[in-house]
Amino acid sequence: MAESGFRVKLERLDNSLPDEAVERFNTYGLVVLELPEPPTVEQLVALEKPLGNLWYHQRSGPNGISVIEPTGNPPGFLGTMPDEHPPHTDGAYNDQPPRIVLLSCEYAEAEGGDSVLVSAAAVYQRLADKGVDLVDSLHAPDALTIDRNGSISCKAAFQRVEDDRVSVCFRMDKHSSTQGSMNSSHAIEVMSEVVSAPDLQLRTTLKRGDVLLIDNSAILHGRTEFDASSGRRRMLRANFMGNGEQKLEFGFIARRGEAGVHSAG
Ligand SMILES: [Fe+2]
Repeated sequence: MAESGFRVKLERLDNSLPDEAVERFNTYGLVVLELPEPPTVEQLVALEKPLGNLWYHQRSGPNGISVIEPTGNPPGFLGTMPDEHPPHTDGAYNDQPPRIVLLSCEYAEAEGGDSVLVSAAAVYQRLADKGVDLVDSLHAPDALTIDRNGSISCKAAFQRVEDDRVSVCFRMDKHSSTQGSMNSSHAIEVMSEVVSAPDLQLRTTLKRGDVLLIDNSAILHGRTEFDASSGRRRMLRANFMGNGEQKLEFGFIARRGEAGVHSAG
């Protein structure tokens, strides 16, 4: 997919989303709003109206916003480091993860730090091509146990949700622990390889004023390593529960042998 497919120019961010942005989100599971200037914290918080309740991260302030900047403080979080962050879903260590990830780019002067986006539909299909048993074991309710700084959740990597849609949950990196059950540990290793396969990854560089919105149940996101000494890089992150006024479609249509529909790749 060309980058123009998921980018929408916007003069200002109100507490609603334009139809064009909703259509991209529902088609691709993601949209980048290109604004002349980064939105204020108040404008981001006001998105609770269309996008639903804010989901609070361990590191977010009382307003629900987390600063992603390599300050090293607090330690142990990839959001305060310049390291590579492999593709993941947010809140994978929580029994109720958020449905929406928002990243607002305030400064993008450092070298590196590209956003990496992976369609769960494409991951699902590739896993199915490697063996249906892999997919089945990832649907088991105890397929994944993820522990990040004492927050632990045991769940399926792929969960069937309303209608024929499936949602994804996944995280595996050096700063959290991901364990499989006896039946799923091999499948988790294979899934980790698949989400890192370059041909399934869509890379984009966020610039100042870009606001990336992701369906956290359909698209995995990550970022490449960056050189913190080469310039400032600062993002604001907010997560929403997706229960707001805006009608959005979540999850992806799982295919086992033909191209996925709700796909970013
Ligand atoms: Fe994330």
